[in-house]
Amino acid sequence: MSTARYAALDAISAAAGRPSSHSSPLALARAYLASSSRRTFCCLVAGLALLLVVGLLHSHAGVADLAWPQGRYGAARAFRDMLRRQLREQEPQKALSRQLADDKEYITGMLFGGQSNQLLALLNLLYLGKELGRTVILPPFTAMHFKGQHRPFHLVYDLPRFYAETAIPAAPFSFFKTPGAPDNEKEHVTCWSLMEKYTGAVNNHQVETGFNEHEVYTDFWAVPAFPRSTENAVLDVDAVIAFLRNRTEQLDWIETTRRDLLPQRGIAKGVDPASVVPEENLKPFFDPLHGVPPTDDEQLMCVDATFYVGNSVPPPPYPQRVPLDPWRVGKAWKKVGQHLHWIPEVQDFADDYLKRIFGVNRAADIPPYISVHVRRGDFKNFHGNTFTPLQNYVDAVNAIRIKLQNRLDHPLSAEEREGKPALRRFDIPPSQYRVVATTDEEPGSELWGELDKLGWKVINHVEFRTQELLGEWYPSMLDGEILSRGQGFVGTQWSTFSMLSGNRVEYWQGGVQVVADPK
Ligand SMILES: *[C@@H]1O[C@H](CO)[C@@H](O)[C@H](O)[C@H]1NC(C)=O
Repeated sequence: MSTARYAALDAISAAAGRPSSHSSPLALARAYLASSSRRTFCCLVAGLALLLVVGLLHSHAGVADLAWPQGRYGAARAFRDMLRRQLREQEPQKALSRQLADDKEYITGMLFGGQSNQLLALLNLLYLGKELGRTVILPPFTAMHFKGQHRPFHLVYDLPRFYAETAIPAAPFSFFKTPGAPDNEKEHVTCWSLMEKYTGAVNNHQVETGFNEHEVYTDFWAVPAFPRSTENAVLDVDAVIAFLRNRTEQLDWIETTRRDLLPQRGIAKGVDPASVVPEENLKPFFDPLHGVPPTDDEQLMCVDATFYVGNSVPPPPYPQRVPLDPWRVGKAWKKVGQHLHWIPEVQDFADDYLKRIFGVNRAADIPPYISVHVRRGDFKNFHGNTFTPLQNYVDAVNAIRIKLQNRLDHPLSAEEREGKPALRRFDIPPSQYRVVATTDEEPGSELWGELDKLGWKVINHVEFRTQELLGEWYPSMLDGEILSRGQGFVGTQWSTFSMLSGNRVEYWQGGVQVVADPK
């Protein structure tokens, strides 16, 4: 891998709000000095040491190296070798098509919604790639809450470690084609529209898909009806895979769409179906007569919305009386999701934050805690026009303490754990574990006062100046990492961020989770 690739990535990540502090250890040092904490000195030393290491790596090989060739978990070399096999060239190309290796097949997909929803879609995309034997081209994350900035996948999740654990070949879109490069060629790809089958319309979320900034434009093609998953909700993942794997079936279906001019708009009540001209009644964005069918490109497959695929129900944006538990863990979580850890850098900063919060010098001295995600924000507007009462989070924390004690008293067998670690035993019982909370409410609010009275530690990104020092992506990445380190987790109903955090506590700590009663 040459440095040109990294230079290109540098530019993207700078545009995406990369921490400027890394290139300027002094700036962070000043910030640490300005903090009123008594622990300033030890933090300063630790922080500077980290920055020196990070800075060295940074100046050597550029930003991508931060995320992987540190060699942590011994994963870097295997990942690089995988990239050499999966990419035609060692540099991103002007066209996606010029970067596909002749003997490989690929799949990519489109995103929409907030970051947790984007991640759920990406888990499904990675799972499809695994099952179809196709290399996954990972579109970037998009932060809808700060101007739709993009961040490449490998600067959020640790791809080398993921590859080491799963052997699923996957690389960020930007390794194929540099977003925003002036000499990029315009390309079109036809995506199977899973979204039309689920919602009635294609995935036309221009910003979140992250395709257009790579000069890749999407056309759409209808898919046949698929059986639904449990709760009759999402498209059954096994049926979707069977279709995407079966070229004969796809070609037959293309003929059907051309003959019947699919997909057709619904016919309004009172309109005589015989009066409808199918050519004029096609849904927007579809053209089965003149369009290029997805089957024309055997090497690159595209699907427009993997969010709606699964073994179980994804969280609906509005209440449908579906509790969290039945849908949260499907094959995609087991085979893919649990293996996506944040980049090592985020883990290091989380250590730093937790040391400061608990006033300890070594990460090993961070006490065991129960993590709580209090999701407020726009949640008041749906879910019965009320937030989950704070007392219900308190009750859930107490329930977690009992469950944890129970688990320690009656440990699960290796078989029952299904690959999850055994819950750790500490020198204090779960009844004495601390509580660490994250919330999307601003510090100073009534909620913060109440959390403080409970003695819970709340991650305060204003006080830590997270956004200023590390960039806009960091508050949520750090919250996610810190929540995932709880021995137990209490989540908010309907929150996908809670769902993911709870799963991580189960799969990474062997812990337990409870969703606070929303009423
Ligand atoms: C592929 O689809 C064709 C046509 O629908 C069907 O006859 C065949 O059994 C399928 N093949 C497999 C392996 O499922």
